[in-house]
Amino acid sequence: MSNYHIKNLEEYFDVYRKSVNDPELFWEEIAEEHFVWRKKWDKVLNWDFKKPEIKWFEGAKLNITENCIDRHLTANGDKTAILFEPNDPKEPAQHISYNELSERVNQFANVLKSKGVKKGDRVCIYLPMIPELAISLLACARIGAIHSVVFAGFSSTALATRINDSDCKLVVTSDGSFRGAKSIDLKGIVDEALISCPSIQSVLVVKRTKSNIEMKEGRDEWLQPLLENASKICPVEIMDAEDPLFILYTSGSTGQPKGMVHTTGGYMVYSAFTFKNVFQYRNDDVYWCTADIGWITGHSYIVYGPLANGATTVMFEGVPSYPDYGRFWEIVEKHKVSQFYTAPTAIRALAKENLDYVTKYDLSSLKVLGTVGEPINEEAWHWYNDNVGGKKSPIVDTWWQTETGGIMISPLPGITATKPTYATLPLPGIQPALIGDNGEELKGNQVEGKLCVKFPWPSIARTIWGNHDRYRETYFSAYADMYFTGDGALRDEVGYYRITGRVDDVIIVSGHNLGTAPIEDAINEHPAVSESAIVGFPHDIKGSALYGYITLKETGEDRDQDNLRKEINQIITEHIGPIAKLDKMQFTAGLPKTRSGKIMRRILRKVACNEIENLGDISTLLNPEVVEVIINERL
Ligand code: WTA
Repeated sequence: MSNYHIKNLEEYFDVYRKSVNDPELFWEEIAEEHFVWRKKWDKVLNWDFKKPEIKWFEGAKLNITENCIDRHLTANGDKTAILFEPNDPKEPAQHISYNELSERVNQFANVLKSKGVKKGDRVCIYLPMIPELAISLLACARIGAIHSVVFAGFSSTALATRINDSDCKLVVTSDGSFRGAKSIDLKGIVDEALISCPSIQSVLVVKRTKSNIEMKEGRDEWLQPLLENASKICPVEIMDAEDPLFILYTSGSTGQPKGMVHTTGGYMVYSAFTFKNVFQYRNDDVYWCTADIGWITGHSYIVYGPLANGATTVMFEGVPSYPDYGRFWEIVEKHKVSQFYTAPTAIRALAKENLDYVTKYDLSSLKVLGTVGEPINEEAWHWYNDNVGGKKSPIVDTWWQTETGGIMISPLPGITATKPTYATLPLPGIQPALIGDNGEELKGNQVEGKLCVKFPWPSIARTIWGNHDRYRETYFSAYADMYFTGDGALRDEVGYYRITGRVDDVIIVSGHNLGTAPIEDAINEHPAVSESAIVGFPHDIKGSALYGYITLKETGEDRDQDNLRKEINQIITEHIGPIAKLDKMQFTAGLPKTRSGKIMRRILRKVACNEIENLGDISTLLNPEVVEVIINERL
């Protein structure tokens, strides 16, 4: 009996019940029947949320690339694995078959080896959305190196912080990247970052934009000539199920990003299982996720999940607005895309444009639509449903996190009745809990609280690289024996979940997680700035945008405010990247603080959202008088 592919609601409830009653047996059967292992596990699960320690399939041996590539070669070697659609629609798409993928991954793996990369070494990948990006992940996995992909929109400072945090040995980058009509000098950013990265021994450079770049003698090499001379055969490194597969950084409540560590066996099983079910992938489908591989969505649902299922996965280099706002739909028509997975922010941006950009294309190939990364508002949901899906393609609103490795709460398309703005029901193996203000679990329906998970699932991140204490404090200390997500949620009268948003200091801007602390740290480096506090406010395309309250030093008080704003956003761009720029900056004489000196963000948030009627009790503040000034001068 196979629980791998759920086909109807009755089966979902049945499988769910089983996954909760006997999680070990449930995941063991799936792992056994649908994956290739070199050796079976000694124990399915070992866990203790107090330590915390979580181990799945301990003792098992495998290599994830055998599951994502080699095992498909006999029957499906000629099938397209990666369908690459370039930024420029005039450049032909590339259909990379499983056979070709195998050769290219092996060659890349051999090049990494020739550079001295070994099992357990960290490799930083800073690339645009070109095939070499997916291939470099797989090449690392093949030889047991731990990849750390850094989104190519991050600045040199952010890149350097991430490289240094995990002592990467090698960087893979490109001469540049194409983004719509622009091209970006990625290599220049890497060069700047590497000034402060002593652990890096080599840089491999993919030629993409053919721009003029500097190559540092003894450190930098073009990748293509090395690949041409490398063997197309590379035996796999046999990994333990619990060996790290990758590190991926996400924002937290301090300036230092959290390097979430995902391990091999559990991550593979869960990303593949959820891909199959949430997208109801069938053999001839063409699946497209528009995320960047620099984020977890790209790791799990462009690369590992689809390839483990032998799927055809589209990789798009460009942006939805180039050469015009019809680009997504042109690609759907051109490649007859069956499943389309994107972010609410993209939907909102496209919904603002003329509907002709959508209607002029034949979107009849679409069967399933997905969203991820932030709550989707009702209007965007309907626009997507009506105009893209023609009311016939179910929308899967998938809730999950970098830390969870895979989709946790989501409808199964055609199986779970959807409800706009609701992620609906937990996937098999996921046991959500809502926690009330006094730390008690809220049972029953029609309740709202903080979203936690009570039991481990195979792809939960195992630690924060180099900082297990922070892992415990962030996720396992708020509530006993539970993983705390940082999100709030409600459960409606039928048990459907709706994610209401972050309850911590993370703000989601255009689907990207931004911690307030690193942005404030950057702002505070401006010589005229004394202090700052960042909050989110609603924005019709980005979902949330950033509002900064900034107090100036005496020396800065007579500076021109427009110039200051530009300089501050420039500093943010340099430290983090343009995604973290502030939409509004209010210069103020003071920030509301508690008697212990903590900034009262709750008040600042309300003012930024224009909810000034009900600010709660401000009498306990150290400086209640600043609140009125802030309200009067709000932007
Ligand atoms: C938010 C992205 C509402 C949430 C996979 C979560 C969502 C954070 C949804 C993780 C959704 C993600 N509805 N909110 N369907 N999906 N989020 O780590 O706040 O980049 O905690 O992972 O995005 O973002 P991350």
